[in-house]
Amino acid sequence: MHYNIPNSIPNIKGNEIAYVTEALSKGMLTEGDYMKEFEKKIASSQGKFHGVCVSSGTAAIHLALLASGVNHDDEVITSASTFAATANAIIYTGARPVFVDIRLSDFCLNAKELSNWFSKNTKMINGFCINLKTKRRISAILLVHVYGFYSNREEIYNIIKSKNIKIIEDGAEALGSFVNRKPIAYGASIFTISFNGNKIITSGGGGMVLCKNKKVADKIRYLANQAKSKNYDFIHNEVGYNYRLSNVNAAIGLAQFEKLDEFVQKKRNTFKKYKNFFNNTNIGEMVEESAEVHCNYWMPLLRIKKSKKINIFEIIYKMNQIGIQLRPIWKPLILNKAFKQFETTSQLKISNDLFKRTICLPSSTSISSKDIKIVCEKLLYYSIN
Ligand SMILES: Cc1ncc(COP(=O)(O)O)c(C=O)c1O
Repeated sequence: MHYNIPNSIPNIKGNEIAYVTEALSKGMLTEGDYMKEFEKKIASSQGKFHGVCVSSGTAAIHLALLASGVNHDDEVITSASTFAATANAIIYTGARPVFVDIRLSDFCLNAKELSNWFSKNTKMINGFCINLKTKRRISAILLVHVYGFYSNREEIYNIIKSKNIKIIEDGAEALGSFVNRKPIAYGASIFTISFNGNKIITSGGGGMVLCKNKKVADKIRYLANQAKSKNYDFIHNEVGYNYRLSNVNAAIGLAQFEKLDEFVQKKRNTFKKYKNFFNNTNIGEMVEESAEVHCNYWMPLLRIKKSKKINIFEIIYKMNQIGIQLRPIWKPLILNKAFKQFETTSQLKISNDLFKRTICLPSSTSISSKDIKIVCEKLLYYSIN
């Protein structure tokens, strides 16, 4: 039997075609009202923010780091277990990522480990926080809200108080999540989003930076537009980037945004069905939100019990062979050739352990109950056979 159960594909049953048709018929392909509307709607859904739409979530992080003053040869602390884009964006600035282990509970950066590491390995010198081993300045922390969970910013703010370190938040996977009933970006000063095809909403590729400070937003818009003066005279005082999102992509994004609440509800229902099944087996349990978080469950995670010694990579392979698209979680970045030369704050025991026993389950918003049942039964079958 061959199935067709993708991991997380877009759902375009709303106003996408109507909005794109309108943008095209007005000849507003590159710039236009959809961009402004998209920025306004996303930004105001999260609190008091200035939104700048860009060509990808990666571009959003890159510009957020630059606008936060991250410099060549600085160090930027981030999570050991995240998508490569997080570290790539740090490296584009000329800075170096430092990887911190994650928490068993929600796969986000382990604040306890970070706090210990700071006390033993850093010192304030001339107003900057310096890594005593590398002698580099730590200028920022890039918090990643993986899989829609919440990487606790309050905890991190407490750790870095008076250390002259900026916090930038990679919320690529977290739009639609809430913390203490507030949208996840609410308390952030700078927060980035991805609208890549597999995200909770998509613009067919794109991203956005949400900034509390208008000057920072203006700087990001300027850098995303080749650092061009506002006039017609093409004056460039800095090196810029071509990171603009098109009006056509923004039209898709806006139509998708209208469905965000519905998509989150669908993902949460899917999570519940997986939980009802797997938490009643003895192979493992679904990774669940903590009491203060309302997770978008962008990608529901099944954490297999350590004692089971199940080879998840074999299961993932077998399931993919029959058309059920399972995925492992992010491989600790340090294990990739591209990132192996960078620093870590520990042996990353939790990241390594969870990588070997956690599976991302299919959760497209169009997935049927019948398909969820098939995923459950087949996965259980391969786990015990
Ligand atoms: C955690 C994380 N950061 C950054 C990105 C980059 O976003 P994009 O693919 O839009 O560049 C992604 C997703 O793709 C992601 O999952």
